[in-house]
Amino acid sequence: MDLLDAARAVFPNAYAPYSKFNVGAAVRTRNGTVFQGVNVENAAYPEGTCAEAGAIAAMCAAGEREIVEVAVIADCPEPVPPCGGCRQKLAEFAGRDVKVTLATIQGKTLETTVGGLLPGGFDASFMET
Ligand code: THU
Repeated sequence: MDLLDAARAVFPNAYAPYSKFNVGAAVRTRNGTVFQGVNVENAAYPEGTCAEAGAIAAMCAAGEREIVEVAVIADCPEPVPPCGGCRQKLAEFAGRDVKVTLATIQGKTLETTVGGLLPGGFDASFMET
């Protein structure tokens, strides 16, 4: 399954009544399974969650822990840049070289990597003594 197609398929299901900014995300895991997510907002604004976080949560609930590809899509002029928190969340489960496709509903795409999104990121190795 094309991962961008998977992100596009759930994009209309985003719950974004406050920002009106739907986002769809999909992650592929080592064994080939695809998990999708959408942003889910809340009347108490900080309680909202991003599409990437939803896909990661679904992956973890299925018992998987290794992301090998990521795709994110939104309706915006340029391919949607994941927020800082989602860059960190993706880096928890994906190596630096993992491909990330950022896209617009209108058809623009930008390819990058998890390391490209989060250079110099914090990880568990910094807690080793
Ligand atoms: N959002 C995502 O779900 N993922 C991103 O990569 C960027 C932003 C959501 C959060 C919020 O529901 C809306 O987009 C506007 O910030």
